[in-house]
Amino acid sequence: MPKTVYSIDEARDVAQQRLPKIIFDFIDGAAGNESTKARNREALEQIYLQPRVLINVDQRSLKTSFLGREWGLPFGIAPMGLCNLAWPQTDQLFAQAAVKYNIPAALSTAGSTSIEDFGSIAKQNGWFQLYVGGAEEQAMGLVTRAEEAGYDTLIFTVDVPQVAPRRRDMRNQFGMPFKIGPKQFWDFATHPRWSFASLFAGAPRLANFPNSNSKQDGWDRNSGRGKIDFDFLDRLRAKWPHKLIVKGVTFGEDAQRIQAAGADAIWVSNHGGRQLASAPPAISFLPKVRSAVGPDYPLMFDSGVRNGDSVVKALALGADFVMLGRPFLWGTAAGGEAGLNNVIDLLANEISVTMAQVGRVCIHEIDQDVLVNSSQ
Ligand SMILES: Cc1cc2nc3c(=O)[nH]c(=O)nc-3n(C[C@H](O)[C@H](O)[C@H](O)COP(=O)(O)O)c2cc1C
Repeated sequence: MPKTVYSIDEARDVAQQRLPKIIFDFIDGAAGNESTKARNREALEQIYLQPRVLINVDQRSLKTSFLGREWGLPFGIAPMGLCNLAWPQTDQLFAQAAVKYNIPAALSTAGSTSIEDFGSIAKQNGWFQLYVGGAEEQAMGLVTRAEEAGYDTLIFTVDVPQVAPRRRDMRNQFGMPFKIGPKQFWDFATHPRWSFASLFAGAPRLANFPNSNSKQDGWDRNSGRGKIDFDFLDRLRAKWPHKLIVKGVTFGEDAQRIQAAGADAIWVSNHGGRQLASAPPAISFLPKVRSAVGPDYPLMFDSGVRNGDSVVKALALGADFVMLGRPFLWGTAAGGEAGLNNVIDLLANEISVTMAQVGRVCIHEIDQDVLVNSSQ
């Protein structure tokens, strides 16, 4: 019987007990001294909401429209590589939850499930995220596969011109496939629940690259992605006729160029603190990008969201839709499908309660006025 958690921090604690350290650190870790990750969350907590009273908020809805369709909740599951390390078939559980809750779930290029398998479960709620890690033809091949598998939304991640070193991963010698030395053996042996389940399911792999070990068809997570530029974005835009989201944007001028290049949405993110070590908190970029792209352009936000109040804050500061990463891996690591649903339900309930307290009954009513204005 999985343990019910009452906060995302609790889900993280349970995940930490259940996962081998090498896996927990891969999920939890961030770039440099991890201060950007800490700032992401602290900055959200330092934004205050204004309680409002005597407004009829009895009937509230968390449904929202974004990118031309309706969603059940104003948040979704961000793309993450090698999710099945958290628990066997995590990608599939994400895809199922996407359908169940009518939310988007994104599969990473570095996903541990193939584009086709993920798409067959998530259907129109599945998005595919593109990294260009090797030759451009390889990347365009993935885009063709996504189109053939029926995806209607592609996320192009642009904030990894070079993969940032993560000290915990280096210390643990995290890599694919795992190096099983005495330290790793002990780590797995002392986490038998995870080790037996993962052994039984087979070690997770980069499922979009069946020949991962071959130089020609393989894909190296750590390969330089520095050649990718605005010209590539133009070629991608020309190739992909459906919805295109550009993820990892924090600078107004970049956002304007991406908007002019014909992207359908921009995703403000500092990659959960996993890339530029000395970046400001992601939320501090959101109002600036919003003012650069104008009031109506679709904007998404992630990085450091750990409760429903923070979803409301991001919506108030200019996001139309909010994504989270680690919390869903922690939920799944803590309790499989039930643990994942627990985290989604928790967030949804917190958003609903927060909306009642700030006097809003629907997502589109959440605006700057729900924030405490220092001049009041
Ligand atoms: C384990 C892990 C793997 C990730 N892999 C990818 C990836 O393959 N592609 C991508 O665009 N972002 C990736 N991200 C970043 C997430 O999409 C997202 O931006 C970030 O997790 C949001 O911050 P949060 O974890 O604080 O919610 C990854 C994040 C984590 C934690």
